[in-house]
Amino acid sequence: MAVKKLKEGIHWVGAIDWDRRLFDELIPLPDGTTYNAYLVEGSDKIALVDTVDPSKTGELLDNLQELGVRRIDYIIANHAEQDHSGSIPDVLAIYPEALVVTNEKCKAMLMDLLEIPDNRFRTVADGASLSLGDRTLEFIFAPWVHWPETMLTYLREEKLLFSCDFLGSHLAQSEPLLWDEAHAYQSAKRYYAEIMMPFRSNIRKHLQRLRALSLDMIAPSHGVVYPRPEFILAAYEEWTSDKVANKVLIPFVSMHGSTREMVDYLTGALMQKNIPVLPCNVVRADIGDLAKELVDAATVIIASPTVLSGPHPAILYVTYLANALRPKFKFASIIGSFGWGGRMLEILTAQLGNIKAEILEPVMVKGYPKPADYQALDKLAEAIAEKHRSIGILN
Ligand code: FEO
Repeated sequence: MAVKKLKEGIHWVGAIDWDRRLFDELIPLPDGTTYNAYLVEGSDKIALVDTVDPSKTGELLDNLQELGVRRIDYIIANHAEQDHSGSIPDVLAIYPEALVVTNEKCKAMLMDLLEIPDNRFRTVADGASLSLGDRTLEFIFAPWVHWPETMLTYLREEKLLFSCDFLGSHLAQSEPLLWDEAHAYQSAKRYYAEIMMPFRSNIRKHLQRLRALSLDMIAPSHGVVYPRPEFILAAYEEWTSDKVANKVLIPFVSMHGSTREMVDYLTGALMQKNIPVLPCNVVRADIGDLAKELVDAATVIIASPTVLSGPHPAILYVTYLANALRPKFKFASIIGSFGWGGRMLEILTAQLGNIKAEILEPVMVKGYPKPADYQALDKLAEAIAEKHRSIGILN
């Protein structure tokens, strides 16, 4: 691995996980990820901002060796999750004078998770600063992006924000500062959807606080570094706003073709009304892609056949995840098929407790769709168009 210079005396010393394809045994990582750690050298003190996943400790230590780092005074722990904190015990062992600088809540978690002894910590308050001599670190508490203890670290003289998980992306690449803007945008949106979306209202408050800072660079702990902070701040303001796009997402499963026929018909009817629509077979879908579409879709239509007495388990799984992610879609409905009855509507509706969307008239079909069923789907398409017009996203 190689260190990367961001500015004079500030180096990326993290690790790239090119092959990782799943995070938390849940989140797909089509582009791998990075664990970004940064070394900040002041005239008096040296700080390491975050560490890396335990599986990559060797790469972090190699990078510190490559830079000839003989002393680390402070290890800034912005977040206790192990992909950033996991190497702290090894760094403490090699640099015996180093103190872990973090907040009380994070300290307690690090003691629980990594058994770091009490005497290796220095705790800081929200807004506190720490001098490195000619450089100053300021600490900004940012709970619930996505854990309760998370903080951000602002390097005052360089106007550089180390934002930890916040504003990050799962994107492995060798140059933290050189990247394709369109790809970076999509990666950051997907990451927001999977990790940050449930905390939308907290994030809005944190964004307001960041807007009060003078920022020249944002360096998260995953993915690319932003030399133009406006790129990611504006994107987050859009995603966390109440605005939705003229878009319908249809997560679906079909076993014998009836539900698929309904989905295809509804897709066509919506296209004729100039409503962008994305049918998504959840059995084959990457759930990260699905989550990304939930960031701004105005309407979600869940489509499932009946299995035993309820929805297909694959739809139940996706509905559970969607409910946990708390997306902001405003309208929803359920369509599907059954052979001899069942409780699909009841079960799916109960799964959506966190969702504040207005529920449009569901369409349930016995067997294969018949003329009256197609009419019901036409009616649903028109209801969606009317709702989209009513909030000004469709002419
Ligand atoms: Fe990237 Fe919450 O850890």
